[in-house]
Amino acid sequence: MSMKLSMSLGKRSYDIIIKRGTLGRAGQLCDLTHRKVFILTDSGVPEAFAQTILDQCADGTIYTVPQGEGSKSLAVYEKVARAMLAFGCDRTSLVVGVGGGMIGDLAGFCAATYMRGIDFINCPTTSLSQFDSSIGGKVAVDLGDTKNILGAFWQPKLVLIDPDTLATLPRRQFVNGLAESIKMSLFGDEELFEMYEEGREEEEIEEIIYRSLCIKKKIVEEDETEKGNRAVLNLGHTLGHGIEAVKGIRGRRTRGLYHGECVALGLLPMVEDPALVKRIKAVYRRLGLPTRTGYDKAKVYEAMTHDKKSRGGTVRLVKVPQLGTFRIVTVPRQELKNLAEGLPLTPVLACGEEEPLL
Ligand SMILES: NC(=O)c1ccc[n+]([C@@H]2O[C@H](COP(=O)([O-])OP(=O)(O)OC[C@H]3O[C@@H](n4cnc5c(N)ncnc54)[C@H](O)[C@@H]3O)[C@@H](O)[C@H]2O)c1
Ligand SMILES: [Zn+2]
Repeated sequence: MSMKLSMSLGKRSYDIIIKRGTLGRAGQLCDLTHRKVFILTDSGVPEAFAQTILDQCADGTIYTVPQGEGSKSLAVYEKVARAMLAFGCDRTSLVVGVGGGMIGDLAGFCAATYMRGIDFINCPTTSLSQFDSSIGGKVAVDLGDTKNILGAFWQPKLVLIDPDTLATLPRRQFVNGLAESIKMSLFGDEELFEMYEEGREEEEIEEIIYRSLCIKKKIVEEDETEKGNRAVLNLGHTLGHGIEAVKGIRGRRTRGLYHGECVALGLLPMVEDPALVKRIKAVYRRLGLPTRTGYDKAKVYEAMTHDKKSRGGTVRLVKVPQLGTFRIVTVPRQELKNLAEGLPLTPVLACGEEEPLL
């Protein structure tokens, strides 16, 4: 089965191909032979994936950075840019990212900035990147502990999603990526949520990827540079980022929670229908996502108040009144304290209409 989605962004439009084995046919979908192709991957991604792309290039090279978030840094960015220059990349050259969200962000940022921007193709190989980060055009590197602070909006020319690449991904990483898709299903696609309830994510992986990306595509098309409703994608991320800052896996701190696991926890208080919360927790338990965790509340609150989404005395939060709906509400900063402490949140009834998405 092959599925294609087209992002409609005027001149920046592009296709997303979801197909088993599609990496091996990349050369039929884009020009790999009449220009220099710089393939960026990391040391944790099976080498065969980047090699498959290289085999189809007339003049290509593979550059491998160390795996882990630490490579989304200025230091590694400089090394990659120097390697691009040494390889002789010019304005017509192509950057291909082969890896998870880290590689997508780094490769995209290199493409966005090299000679003021050259072509970029993304080949996501983790569930998180296949369901979520590979489309949307946000590319970035971190500055120390501050994530994604140097970045750009740079749309790829093509996204090639090969679900076969997920076979080598550790189970916990796979489930980590599902959390973002579950998040999107809550406000965007009831049937997708039901697929998770029925445990269909492995045998129907293409359908799951397709449906997740459809939700993200619709939001991104309406709000390419995140001025309005794109904020709905931040569902669960305010508390999620707070938990991640305190309990996340960073650098050498290898015990802790993955981003998706933090988001999974962070979205629970945002769901206003108690029956739906029960259903979500059942899905989490089946998949092995956490349903609760202990943390230092003061530290989580502190981390949340540094969150870039809090403006002045108020914060914007995304709530899910019922399955398939969402509301973006502006609430007093105090709400973050309640959120961190697990206290009941302000009822949202006074804060505007429900926004049906699809
Ligand atoms: N741009 C966006 O919109 C956006 C959205 C969400 C997340 N992100 C970014 O994505 C990053 C996280 O992405 P991620 O979770 O994919 O992490 P990641 O890219 O670090 O990959 C996780 C690990 O899996 C390994 N790996 C990758 N593919 C594999 C495969 N097929 N088999 C076995 N191992 C494989 C990698 O080497 C790495 O060690 C963060 O930097 C985050 O900021 C970006
Ligand atoms: Zn996220």
